[in-house]
Amino acid sequence: MFDWLLSEHHAIAILKKDHETVKDLFDQFEKAEKTAAKEKIVTQALNELKLHAAIEEEIFYPTVRAHVGSKVMNEADEEHHVARVLIAELDRDGDEYGHREAKFTVLAENVRHHIREEESDMLPKAKELDIDFEALGQRMLDRKADLTKNGFSPDTEHRMVSKAGGKGDSPAAAAANHTRAAASRRSAAKGPTKTAQGRTRKTTSRSKD
Ligand SMILES: [Fe+2]
Repeated sequence: MFDWLLSEHHAIAILKKDHETVKDLFDQFEKAEKTAAKEKIVTQALNELKLHAAIEEEIFYPTVRAHVGSKVMNEADEEHHVARVLIAELDRDGDEYGHREAKFTVLAENVRHHIREEESDMLPKAKELDIDFEALGQRMLDRKADLTKNGFSPDTEHRMVSKAGGKGDSPAAAAANHTRAAASRRSAAKGPTKTAQGRTRKTTSRSKD
């Protein structure tokens, strides 16, 4: 409550300002019609989210964890992990299954949910701490400036996604491949069949649509 009274260097004010920035980008994405405009917003949002996640994970979360409690903090951490997987997939070139827009929409939905939880549970609890939130905020701003200047090193999720080579990020496509492979195995096991004209035909099944 009364967070609008906090100075702009207060750690909680910095996080809340970031939340407004990304929520605004998500709204803009929903209203955008042209692919180029959407892509510009995706690029901006991914950069904002990576900066924001870094200052939370490296600085804010460890500072408030013991006071806020592991239940809330572990959930937040898992939500960051899911967001980071989607970010890593969106950072890749190519869109094998035509899922790029859906992927960003799901990322936006997850992040909106995460922000609601942080603002209703984590931040009010963290604010009870008797610490120098201005100094903490300054560390967060310095880290942001450092990352903006020097870039991000690959996180676990980027390494994971790069190892998968972009394969398997569509469970529906994976299920369809599985079904086709099973049908192919069944038909191969039946052996050759006779045609209406009495000729022998080898039973095959399609491997692709
Ligand atoms: Fe967060």
